[in-house]
Amino acid sequence: MTVFWKPWQNIFSICLVLCTTAVLSAQFQLQPLNSTVQQGSDARFIATVQGNWQIMTWTVRQIMVLTIPAGGNTTSFSPQFSARFCSSGNTSCVEFTIHNVTRRESGPVICTMLGEYGSKTAQLHVEESGTVNIMEGNMTVIQDQEVKFQCVATAWFPTPTISWTRNGQAINSNLYNTTSMADGDSFNSTSVLTFQAISNTTVECQATVQTLTKPQSSSVFLVVVPKPPNWTVLIAVVVSFGGFALLILLIIGLIFCYKRRKKKQPNYQDEMR
Ligand SMILES: *[C@@H]1O[C@H](CO)[C@@H](O)[C@H](O)[C@H]1NC(C)=O
Ligand SMILES: *[C@@H]1O[C@H](CO)[C@@H](O)[C@H](O)[C@H]1NC(C)=O
Ligand SMILES: *[C@@H]1O[C@H](CO)[C@@H](O)[C@H](O)[C@H]1NC(C)=O
Ligand SMILES: *[C@@H]1O[C@H](CO)[C@@H](O)[C@H](O)[C@H]1NC(C)=O
Ligand SMILES: *[C@@H]1O[C@H](CO)[C@@H](O)[C@H](O)[C@H]1NC(C)=O
Ligand SMILES: *[C@@H]1O[C@H](CO)[C@@H](O)[C@H](O)[C@H]1NC(C)=O
Ligand SMILES: *[C@@H]1O[C@H](CO)[C@@H](O)[C@H](O)[C@H]1NC(C)=O
Ligand SMILES: *[C@@H]1O[C@H](CO)[C@@H](O)[C@H](O)[C@H]1NC(C)=O
Repeated sequence: MTVFWKPWQNIFSICLVLCTTAVLSAQFQLQPLNSTVQQGSDARFIATVQGNWQIMTWTVRQIMVLTIPAGGNTTSFSPQFSARFCSSGNTSCVEFTIHNVTRRESGPVICTMLGEYGSKTAQLHVEESGTVNIMEGNMTVIQDQEVKFQCVATAWFPTPTISWTRNGQAINSNLYNTTSMADGDSFNSTSVLTFQAISNTTVECQATVQTLTKPQSSSVFLVVVPKPPNWTVLIAVVVSFGGFALLILLIIGLIFCYKRRKKKQPNYQDEMR
């Protein structure tokens, strides 16, 4: 009897351990586990818990910033951190908010429950949108001249994606070059656009990062004035025409002289005879 039951007992106890672990980890969830937000906005995390719990704490920047007892008032380290039950009186869902996020809050956000629930860690990424400016400002050029615009994006994190438009149409990326460099804990990017001026154009430079819904932009006007009549070409034409006419005259003159000499020659021979 015992010989038969031993393996069954072992399987049963293994199952018990596995199943309880699975159930326990399913009882407490944190979402999102990876969050990217704009600096200055609010970052929200949701903890959902099954079963009765007593105390939940939230840790940001290695500092415990907030404590929520299931049945009491929330204690916050600063007004930047707040928490509430997703629906009042229902402790199974807690929403934790970091208001006006700065780059300093980037990193792990840890939710810890007192007791066997343990803790869960989410990663917070904070993006920063800086400024963007076309350095040249409005420009006036002569038709067909090559124009160059330089767009400078300052104080971005991470490096912004820079694009250009001409009269609202995206410009082919092989017409511009973008370089970025770190400036302390953010980035400056410079993009140089070159093209041939054909007609009056609105040129816009746009910079964006993943979380920006509308890119930052800077735009300028390019006024193209028609080419003035090209005097050098005209002079060259006149001069070459003049030269050609002179050459023709010279040739005619030479032929004339030759003919006269040819006529004169027999006369001379006649005289000799
Ligand atoms: C988390 O998000 C960041 C930024 O969007 C991304 O670079 C990173 O790969 C993500 N990590 C995971 C584990 O998904
Ligand atoms: C929560 O705070 C309110 C007022 O701030 C107070 O009246 C109430 O007694 C507090 N509840 C607990 C459980 O501490
Ligand atoms: C609390 O909310 C969860 C879903 O968020 C729901 O499943 C549960 O029934 C609610 N409990 C009570 C007591 O309303
Ligand atoms: C957000 O934080 C920044 C820097 O800490 C501060 O200058 C700004 O006034 C804050 N904005 C709000 C709306 O609290
Ligand atoms: C460019 O011209 C537009 C209108 O012609 C004007 O509104 C704008 O201020 C000018 N920008 C600069 C940088 O001079
Ligand atoms: C961009 O840089 C590459 C290599 O430095 C160069 O060949 C190319 O002509 C540049 N394009 C523009 C539009 O400046
Ligand atoms: C980035 O841009 C700012 C403002 O234009 C400037 O003061 C700073 O020196 C730049 N940093 C680098 C590394 O170019
Ligand atoms: C561009 O606009 C200016 C006036 O704003 C005008 O004088 C000029 O002829 C225009 N150029 C072209 C190529 O249309």
